[in-house]
Amino acid sequence: MMYRLTLLILQVSAALSAMVGNRTIERDVKCVCSVVMPDNIFPVERMEYLEATSQNLSTSVQTETLKVQMYGQTLSLYTQQLQNLTLRLQAMESGAGYTELQFDALRVEIQELLSLTSQLRSTVNGSEAIIERLHFQIKNMSTTVDQLETFDKHNVLGIRQEIKVLKAQQKKCEANQGLKPSQVNFGSCDHGGLLNVRGPNVVQLNWRGIGCTSGAWGRDPAPLPGKGGQYWVAPLESDRRAFNSYRLYSSYNDLLLSRNPVNVQLRSSSYTGQGSGMAMYKNYLYYNCYNSRYMCRMNRHTYRTQRTILNNATYNNRFSFSSGSYHDFDFAVDESGLWVVYATEASDGNMVVSKINDTSFTVEESWVTNMYKPSVSGTFMICGVLYAMRSQSTRLEEIFYTFDTKDGQEAMISVKMEKMLEKVSSVTYSPSDHKLFVYNQGNQMTYDVVFRPKG
Ligand SMILES: *[C@@H]1O[C@H](CO)[C@@H](O)[C@H](O)[C@H]1NC(C)=O
Ligand SMILES: *[C@@H]1O[C@H](CO)[C@@H](O)[C@H](O)[C@H]1NC(C)=O
Ligand SMILES: *[C@@H]1O[C@H](CO)[C@@H](O)[C@H](O)[C@H]1NC(C)=O
Ligand SMILES: *[C@@H]1O[C@H](CO)[C@@H](O)[C@H](O)[C@H]1NC(C)=O
Ligand SMILES: *[C@@H]1O[C@H](CO)[C@@H](O)[C@H](O)[C@H]1NC(C)=O
Ligand SMILES: *[C@@H]1O[C@H](CO)[C@@H](O)[C@H](O)[C@H]1NC(C)=O
Ligand SMILES: *[C@@H]1O[C@H](CO)[C@@H](O)[C@H](O)[C@H]1NC(C)=O
Repeated sequence: MMYRLTLLILQVSAALSAMVGNRTIERDVKCVCSVVMPDNIFPVERMEYLEATSQNLSTSVQTETLKVQMYGQTLSLYTQQLQNLTLRLQAMESGAGYTELQFDALRVEIQELLSLTSQLRSTVNGSEAIIERLHFQIKNMSTTVDQLETFDKHNVLGIRQEIKVLKAQQKKCEANQGLKPSQVNFGSCDHGGLLNVRGPNVVQLNWRGIGCTSGAWGRDPAPLPGKGGQYWVAPLESDRRAFNSYRLYSSYNDLLLSRNPVNVQLRSSSYTGQGSGMAMYKNYLYYNCYNSRYMCRMNRHTYRTQRTILNNATYNNRFSFSSGSYHDFDFAVDESGLWVVYATEASDGNMVVSKINDTSFTVEESWVTNMYKPSVSGTFMICGVLYAMRSQSTRLEEIFYTFDTKDGQEAMISVKMEKMLEKVSSVTYSPSDHKLFVYNQGNQMTYDVVFRPKG
């Protein structure tokens, strides 16, 4: 009772002090203490302090308890995620079901976990052994993913998967021994895809001579009736980049005898081209406009030229094929129409296939593959399936990879193609006669495509 009163007076004097300053307080406090409090043994101030502290403590214990409960829940969530991540990492390390997309998603998740646990760690100030261990495990995982990524630069995971697919394929091949090639009408897709190629048939040296080692040639599958001019030969300049002129022949015999050629010059600087990715479809020759992201086309009868942008495509030798420089755009013609194969920054240099509407000269639809474009020497399309080749030696090319635009399925195959000289700068497929037209270091060659029976 007594001390409560004193307390009150003390408070009053404290209130006063704010108003009147030091001197007054000193006088007041002295006055109060000496008069009202008979014994100043009871430690009022310490009691007051204790009350406040205990209140503070109980509040902070409550909040800490809450936090710990929260950490407990978060921790068990982390543990589940960690277990899931571990399983997925193990699956990836064994090379099963690997795709780059999974890889990226995993890295993002691990980064999230890592930043969450660092937050947790700084709050708890490293005192919790569990959190320490968790943090370490996640860091370890991050290191493992980095290591995996480094491996992938050497394509180890891809190769492992490839070998697995090849082995499966080999088994299937053995089971299918004695398989008869299918007779397929020209223009028809009533078959099970490419089984083999027969060749090469060496046709001739290109019309500009041995100096033009890069270029392309082919056949228009849908020429104007009665107009002829279905074979085209398009050597690049000797710099192996610039495309300035091409030649047309009305028939195969004319081509063989170099008879009645039509020479075409690309004169306007906006319509010259680069790279050996040309293809001809419905009287238009398609190619990559010089020094640009644009697709060019030229009508071979009217010489009308047009250009249109290929969105996001990389160009100027960014992700060219392994067989030569500036082959950024690769046009292709098959039974279903016109296509272009290229790469983008978003695809990390992997091949992108786009279907082109030849009426509007626009991209209709695009597919992103998991095959790195510079690891491929050339591509062609048959019945909506992309086929990719690579060099196996100076005398051997291998068709090794397919991507089906009908269902997005990728597969590894192994079909060998003998070649005369090392560099194959282009291959185009002709649905009109099931031939591949290959430009092999200045030489024009053909191969016959043999199809697998359906089913
Ligand atoms: C109160 O007294 C202290 C020490 O005597 C002095 O340093 C301070 O300036 C004084 N404050 C006022 C408001 O007079
Ligand atoms: C109690 O907590 C408040 C606010 O956190 C703080 O200002 C005060 O100094 C604390 N009191 C004691 C006695 O620890
Ligand atoms: C891991 O989590 C993902 C989704 O977060 C789920 O689709 C997948 O099935 C889980 N994997 C395992 C092995 O639990
Ligand atoms: C963690 O606590 C230690 C003492 O237990 C202290 O020295 C250190 O500064 C604290 N760190 C943080 C981030 O609070
Ligand atoms: C990660 O953990 C595994 C086993 O738990 C261990 O073998 C490996 O050395 C650790 N890696 C790092 C970088 O600490
Ligand atoms: C080009 O990239 C942008 C941004 O990444 C994307 O939104 C757009 O769909 C892409 N266009 C094509 C045709 O791929
Ligand atoms: C191609 O473009 C033309 C003209 O824009 C359009 O009429 C036609 O439907 C398009 N074809 C397809 C398959 O989208």
